[in-house]
Amino acid sequence: QNEIYNAGLKGHLPHFPVDFATLEARAHEALGPMLTNYVAGGCGDEHTQDMNASAFHHWGMIPRMMVDCTERDLSIELFGQQFDNPLFMAPIGLNGEATQDRHGDMAAARASALTGVPFCASTLGNDPLEDVKKACGDTPAFFQLYTPRNREFAESLIKRAENAGYSALVVTLDTWVTGWRPRDLNASNFPQLRGKVLQNYFQDPVFRSLLDKPPEEDMEAAIMMFAGVFGQVLTWDDVKWFKSVTDMPIVLKGICHPDDARRAVDSGADAVYCSNHGGRQANGGIATIDLLEDVVKAAGDVPVMFDSGIRSGSDAVKALAMGARSVGVGRPYTYGLALGGAEGAAWVLRSMLAEADLLMAVNGYPTLEDVRIAGVQRTDLAV
Ligand code: FNR
Repeated sequence: QNEIYNAGLKGHLPHFPVDFATLEARAHEALGPMLTNYVAGGCGDEHTQDMNASAFHHWGMIPRMMVDCTERDLSIELFGQQFDNPLFMAPIGLNGEATQDRHGDMAAARASALTGVPFCASTLGNDPLEDVKKACGDTPAFFQLYTPRNREFAESLIKRAENAGYSALVVTLDTWVTGWRPRDLNASNFPQLRGKVLQNYFQDPVFRSLLDKPPEEDMEAAIMMFAGVFGQVLTWDDVKWFKSVTDMPIVLKGICHPDDARRAVDSGADAVYCSNHGGRQANGGIATIDLLEDVVKAAGDVPVMFDSGIRSGSDAVKALAMGARSVGVGRPYTYGLALGGAEGAAWVLRSMLAEADLLMAVNGYPTLEDVRIAGVQRTDLAV
């Protein structure tokens, strides 16, 4: 933040935007209409998606004075590992397409190495998960699984992630079928599944064994096979199966109801991931931030990860105040990738962390424990 202010005194403007609205507008220009529809689009009339972000405004924090906040500690512990900051990059399929070279996952991984913000790599990566993990450097990474119907293939993806050194397996529960997304349907985003995409899938040995010809020779057939094996409906008993095939901690992504949080814990999940997929899967829902406190309460001692609607450092602090252990940044870092690859994504993450750090300084919360104790209040219900 000092760097930005000091440069401003000399008349230099920041390379990338420091507010979400400008970031979004410039990223949409860079992405062009088809990719903008894909990244920015959501389910139905996008009411739930919009609410995810706007609902943060009806939660507020009250500052405390005369607290020594000259040093702030934003570090957390998760899966037995220490992290310097409480953010992570949420999994975004086809992230790869956000950069000109179509290797956006590699750029996100480099942003992770630059910032210490862990990257949760999506199953639907344009680069093999092994390469992505290496590019994360010393920063731990998570792997997100869309569980294929073919269990042998699912196991192959999981084992590859474990062997590559990922620290956790994030199993997404809410996307065994794709939601009603008018922007995708109207714009027919299917053409973007051409060319050198989804290499994480296409280079998997089990996936390749299911094909008559390798994807390089018959992309059409590979894409049809991809569509055919994608999307297993999971039940609570499946958590046992995940635990039987890997030692990685299991995170269940898409939990919004407190009863589901309890069932996740009872089934052996190592973390609960409260998210509504950024409003891309179901419309007519409730902003995820409005559900977080109940999910945290129900999860007890099991850590809760959170995403959906985080647009600023203060949004992240509010989610932490509600008890999230770690907060996922979604669309904003993909917009950073679109504007400046690894540097662009790192800029977005650093800006959020700087804002969160300053907010804690000004509000008199030297640690995240103080943030949790301070909590948030619902401003629109206040008498
Ligand atoms: C996603 N999300 C997602 N989730 C997941 O588990 N696997 C995936 O491959 C994807 N792909 C994906 C693509 C795009 C373009 C978006 C925007 C989102 C959901 C993602 O992890 C996260 O839940 C949302 O992005 C959170 O919402 P906001 O904060 O980005 O609006």
